[in-house]
Amino acid sequence: MVWKRVAEKNEIPEGKGKEFIVDGKHVAIFNQNGYHGLDSICVHQDGSLAPGKLDGDVVECPLHFWHYNIKTGELLDYMKGVKMQTYKVEVKSDGLYVDV
Ligand code: FES
Repeated sequence: MVWKRVAEKNEIPEGKGKEFIVDGKHVAIFNQNGYHGLDSICVHQDGSLAPGKLDGDVVECPLHFWHYNIKTGELLDYMKGVKMQTYKVEVKSDGLYVDV
């Protein structure tokens, strides 16, 4: 795993997410009670989770409203046992880093 700088420290407002492409991976980073990173491409039909509505630890895919836990990556409806890859995110002095 390698830490990569992806953004300025204050680039993602509280309660929002943003998608970054890091080493070819689409990673959604959410600023919701700390930073949380997970694969951003929904397993249903490839919607981006990054602009999805947040409710606590849950993000809702904007396309057809499937739900994922942003801390565990777990899909919460329709299919059992589906988990997105999650990524550690850290705020360092010069920006926001994700461990890919
Ligand atoms: S693409 Fe995400 S719910 Fe359909």
